[in-house]
Amino acid sequence: MTIDVLNYLCCPACGSDLESRNTSVSCTLGHEFPIRNGVPDLVQSTRAAAAISDTFSVQWSRYEYGQDHTWSHSLDDRIDGFLAHLGIDSEWLRDKAILDAGCGNGELTNEVALRFRPRMFGTDISESVYRAHQQFGANVSFFRSNLSDSVLRPERFDAIYCGGVLHHTPDTRHALGQLAPAVKPAGRIYVWLYWKIPTLVYRAKTALRRFVAPLPPRAQQPIVSVFTAASWIRHGGRTGWRDHRLVQHDFWTPRYRWEHSPDEVIGWLHDLGFSDVSLQSQARDGFGLLAVR
Ligand SMILES: C[S@@+](CC[C@H](N)C(=O)[O-])C[C@H]1O[C@@H](n2cnc3c(N)ncnc32)[C@H](O)[C@@H]1O
Ligand SMILES: [Zn+2]
Repeated sequence: MTIDVLNYLCCPACGSDLESRNTSVSCTLGHEFPIRNGVPDLVQSTRAAAAISDTFSVQWSRYEYGQDHTWSHSLDDRIDGFLAHLGIDSEWLRDKAILDAGCGNGELTNEVALRFRPRMFGTDISESVYRAHQQFGANVSFFRSNLSDSVLRPERFDAIYCGGVLHHTPDTRHALGQLAPAVKPAGRIYVWLYWKIPTLVYRAKTALRRFVAPLPPRAQQPIVSVFTAASWIRHGGRTGWRDHRLVQHDFWTPRYRWEHSPDEVIGWLHDLGFSDVSLQSQARDGFGLLAVR
C-alpha cells in the first residue's frame, strides 16, 4: 500500500482522516480497518455489502488476465472509450488524480495508468481489488470500499470514472451523492448506467432475474451456464466461452440491478452541483453521462 492513498480517503464510519498502522488503518476516532493483501479494506460489514461483494468476487476470481476480455472489448477499445467518455485526451491526464470507482478486475485502471501516467486509484467492493493489486499494484493504488458509504475526501479527484457500478448498489442516487463531492471544482465525472430495454425477451429475463438474484451463488450457476451456452451458440462459438459467461454472470447474479433514464440522472447531477451534463454514450443496454463541475 502506498501511504499516499490515505490522503484521498476518510473513515467511512465518521468521516475523519485515516492513518496507517502496521496491518491496519485507523481514524482519529479509533475506527480500525484491516489492510488485506496490501490493500486497505474500508468496507463496513452489512448484509447488503456482503451480498454485492459475494457475486462480484466470484465473477472476477474467474477472470484470466491476459486471456479474457472484459465485456468482449479489447483493451485498446476500452482505452478509446475511457478518453471519449470523459471528453479528454491523453495530455489532460498527466499528473491528474483519477479514480476508477468500481474498477472490477482493474485491467482498464492499470492500462490508463501505464499509458498516460496520472495518479491512478481503483476501488471496488469485491475481492477483485486484491488480485488487481497483485497484478497492477505498481501502477495503481487500489483500496476496497463500498461506494454507498462516504469514503472519499471532498474535492480530491480531477476525474471519476464509474462504469456500470452505481445501479448495483441498493440506491443509485444515494451512491452518486457519495461520489460527487469528491470531484474537484472544474473536475468531471462519468457514470454509465442501465436503462430499460423495451423488448419482450428482455423484460421476461429481467422478471426471471428477480428470482435468481437472491439465490446463493451455487444455485445461480446452472442458470448462468444455460444462458452462457445460449449466448455462445447464438454468436456461433466464435468468441470465448468465458467472455460470454462473464456477461451472463453479470446479468443474472447481482443482488441489485436498477434501470434508469438519462433525464432522471441528469436531474440528480444538476442537484449535486454539476452545471454541464451531457449524454456521452449510448448502447443497447445503457447510457453514459459526463458531468463537469
Ligand atoms: C459490472 S462491474 C463493472 C466493473 C468495471 N467498472 C468495468 O467496467 O469493467 C460492476 C462493479 O461494481 C462493483 N460494485 C458494485 N457495488 C459496489 C459498491 N457498493 N461499492 C463499490 N463497488 C461496487 C462490483 O463489485 C463490480 O466490480
Ligand atoms: Zn472513524
